[in-house]
Amino acid sequence: MAESTFDVVVVGGGPGGYVCAIRAAQLGFKVACVEKRSALGGTCLNVGCIPSKALLAASEKFEEAKHGLAKFGIKVGGVELDLPGMLSHKDKVVKENTGGIEFLFKKNKIAWLKGAGRITAPNTVEVEGIGTITASKAIVIATGSEVTPLPGIEIDEQKIVSSTGALELPEVPKRLVVIGGGVIGLELGSVWGRLGAQVTVVEFLDRILPTMDGEVSKQMQRILGKQGMTFKLGSKVTAAKVTNTGVTLSVEPAAGGTAEEVEADVVLVAIGRRAYTNGLGLDAVGVEMDNRGRVKIGKHFETNVPGIYAIGDVVEGPMLAHKAEEEGVALAELLAGQASHVNHDLVPGVVYTWPEVAAVGKTEEELKAAGVAYKAGKFPFTANGRARASGTTDGFVKILADARTDKVLGVHMVGPNVSEMVGELGVAMEFSASAEDIARTCHAHPTLSEVTKEAALAVDGRALHI
Ligand code: FAD
Ligand code: NAI
Repeated sequence: MAESTFDVVVVGGGPGGYVCAIRAAQLGFKVACVEKRSALGGTCLNVGCIPSKALLAASEKFEEAKHGLAKFGIKVGGVELDLPGMLSHKDKVVKENTGGIEFLFKKNKIAWLKGAGRITAPNTVEVEGIGTITASKAIVIATGSEVTPLPGIEIDEQKIVSSTGALELPEVPKRLVVIGGGVIGLELGSVWGRLGAQVTVVEFLDRILPTMDGEVSKQMQRILGKQGMTFKLGSKVTAAKVTNTGVTLSVEPAAGGTAEEVEADVVLVAIGRRAYTNGLGLDAVGVEMDNRGRVKIGKHFETNVPGIYAIGDVVEGPMLAHKAEEEGVALAELLAGQASHVNHDLVPGVVYTWPEVAAVGKTEEELKAAGVAYKAGKFPFTANGRARASGTTDGFVKILADARTDKVLGVHMVGPNVSEMVGELGVAMEFSASAEDIARTCHAHPTLSEVTKEAALAVDGRALHI
């Protein structure tokens, strides 16, 4: 290795780490990023956001070609699935994206140190196969997260898979049981359901998407149910037996009771993710962790050990790529002496099912629990011309505004392309917009975003098209 001293050494090349590295390099720091995977981009680009969206997009097109075009007066026959072709589309997209980060590293003169990193002192990292490197300004822990295991249910990535295995099943299972009705369960359940699997979701709590607004959960359960997904809510899997033909699961009520057997060809375990710090040597340097195994940080991402910082999935907060990226940028700027921050109250959440779910800000449940008086305005996509023209009328936009000041406190959307629509609301909320501000903003016609404007009007009971 030509160089062994850098200003900033980032451990982990995911959205948190690689973005922090790029921003730090832009600000003039000499930067190294230690990444043990054979490609940059972390969970998100390799086995997370990007491959799952490639399969969601491809399976959506398949579903549409098979069942969704007749209503537009288009007759198609002989639609067939070419699963290897679909999987290679996904692999190609992943390769293009991870290769793109490698290009950006070269462009920004960031050294990619390929190997596992272990922090040996507050300013040194030992990189497997490379040696000891020194960080004169900061070490950034951006090592991400891993699948939370389910005790007694061993993931073999063949019949019992994590999200990683579910992104490359060699054939469509007849019966897919998903353990966990969260984001991964519903997204990857949708993929395989569209390709022909009978999907059953076993969820411990009494609702799917339990951290989202209650009305959203209810609506999505109804819509996904219509698409053929079945749900066993308030249920837990207590055992899994792999047989020659598949897997036999014991499922019982969450509160205890009589168990039933459920047969599956493939089981997807998607009950959450946990911070990943294996082999990082944090004990030895004395970095404090919280009771959920996450690296503890202060306001400016610094751990209790001066000079060691942490961002992304490995610290508290939603495990989302855009949250990790924002933290990466803010940290690099703080290291350069700039004033920078992340508004953790306005990190949007999206579920890329069809229709999509998108939210930013507080849910009704959170506002009620905090005793905040609020008004709600809601408008359905069925009353929107563009949604009708496109044949996608499921869903609604709901805006929650402070009862006294009219300030928008939360927005919850189910509908077509709402992943793209939620950005408008994030900007509005960053500028402390009121519902009135959104209602008075001219939205192009005919667009789906008119539903947002109508929901804002509905906050004061004056929606126009309903
Ligand atoms: P990671 O992306 O996990 O990157 C950490 C990197 O550190 C890894 O590459 C790892 O190999 C490396 N590493 C760990 N330890 C060491 C070490 N000691 N030495 C060297 N390298 C090390 N989020 C969204 O916002 N939108 C989505 O649509 C979305 N979809 C997802 C779909 C799936 C199936 C999954 C699993 C996750 C999805 N996520 C999504 C979550 C998203 O992937 C994570 O929030 C994001 O990747 C976190 O970024 P990070 O940089 O903190 O960690
Ligand atoms: P999740 O936290 O979204 O959902 C896990 C679900 O499993 C919850 O509903 C929980 O109640 C349930 N559960 C927990 N233990 C259970 C048990 N023993 N039996 C049955 N159900 C149980 O976690 P998921 O779906 O694994 O995803 C992990 C993380 O990855 C997400 O939290 C999210 O941060 C990220 N992600 C984000 C995506 C996006 O932004 N679109 C897509 C996929 C993942």
